[in-house]
Amino acid sequence: MAKRNQIVKNKKILQSSYIPDNLPHRKDKIDEVVEILAPALNKDKPSNILIIGKTGTGKTAVMNYIGKELKKADEEGVNCSFIYVNCEVVDTPYGILYNISNQIITDISKKIPFTGWSLDKILNEMSVYIEKEDKIFIIVLDEIDRSIQKNGEDIFYYLTSINEVLQKSKISIIGITNNAKFTEFLNPKIRSRLGEEKIIFPPYKVDQLKDILSERAEFAFDKGVLEDDVIPYCAALSAQEMGDARRALDLLRISADIAERNGDNKVTCAHVRSAKNKIELDAVSEVIKTLTVQSKTVLMSIILNSEENLDHMTTGEVYTKYKFICEVIGQSVLSQRRVASLISELDMLGIIHARVKSFGKLGRTKEIELNTPKEIVNMIKSDDIFIDLINYKPPKQTTIF
Ligand SMILES: Nc1ncnc2c1ncn2[C@@H]1O[C@H](COP(=O)(O)OP(=O)(O)O)[C@@H](O)[C@H]1O
Ligand SMILES: [Mg+2]
Repeated sequence: MAKRNQIVKNKKILQSSYIPDNLPHRKDKIDEVVEILAPALNKDKPSNILIIGKTGTGKTAVMNYIGKELKKADEEGVNCSFIYVNCEVVDTPYGILYNISNQIITDISKKIPFTGWSLDKILNEMSVYIEKEDKIFIIVLDEIDRSIQKNGEDIFYYLTSINEVLQKSKISIIGITNNAKFTEFLNPKIRSRLGEEKIIFPPYKVDQLKDILSERAEFAFDKGVLEDDVIPYCAALSAQEMGDARRALDLLRISADIAERNGDNKVTCAHVRSAKNKIELDAVSEVIKTLTVQSKTVLMSIILNSEENLDHMTTGEVYTKYKFICEVIGQSVLSQRRVASLISELDMLGIIHARVKSFGKLGRTKEIELNTPKEIVNMIKSDDIFIDLINYKPPKQTTIF
């Protein structure tokens, strides 16, 4: 077997979990946050902050960077502590309190158990330990809208009111969210407490993405491995898609991966194009995995019709095929109206293409087209639920002669 070309010198640097020492184009945001948090170094309580920005705008990276800086500035940890919880990973109120408390409680025998306590009990215990420490706790709750979506806002009510029972210590909460709208649904009291200060992270522009990628690339690749137009191309593609630095890094990392696997010794724009396809395909496959059996059946109907040379089909034609498939695989049949709404859903997910067409007096119908990559079509066709369909043989016509 041919030896795999080593294109990336240091893979870790291209991972999205890596925090670089320098965050280009975020100095202003870092300064804004630091200015608000600086009183903590003198044991004064900083305002709570809500950080809002689309995915990949550097929110998590900036907060972790500031966490490291705070630790350096308060070396002995006597005036403040920095605690980070990702609410996408830990998303129950118990999990969040457990996680925060156990970062504060250092004595292993005193740690909060993984399950079994009431929230009130954890809160009390946590307050005791926080008070004992006699300092400011900066608690970062990343992706906080995830937790609120799932569990409601009680946890934030608890956390933001904890200061009322504390004398010597105080906590400040920094909430981070991708969803600018989520605060609209909060109880006004919690909204105003959480959002004492608000900082918006705008999407990166194409030149900013170029700088971010170039800095990472400098440490990740040897000179000359990337063709000159690779970074501008990755940056341009990601700027079109919301200025997401994570997406830009993913593109660069996957492009290099593809080049390595092909045994090529340079990364080119052709690799970037393959990487883009791969990322898109992975995203669609993730969506396909979440479809219900009925939606998959509707999609399968469209696939079969288009394989039978119906490039454009009406809802009625999809429905006829759908009923046939339901019969073969032994599944209940939904109404045509319901199937029409499943078709609209597939359209919204970008898996098929449907447009409304008017046929004059005959009324309006949808014209449906399959624009699904063949990898996805194959994925659907090999789904276990269609096994009887794939093996289906039409009954032989009996003839008289
Ligand atoms: N200004 C920047 N400089 C260098 N890397 C950055 C910068 N902003 C974001 N990144 C990188 O992009 C990726 C996504 O950033 P992240 O902070 O996770 O975004 P968010 O939390 O806003 O979704 C991470 O790998 C991060 O290190
Ligand atoms: Mg983040």
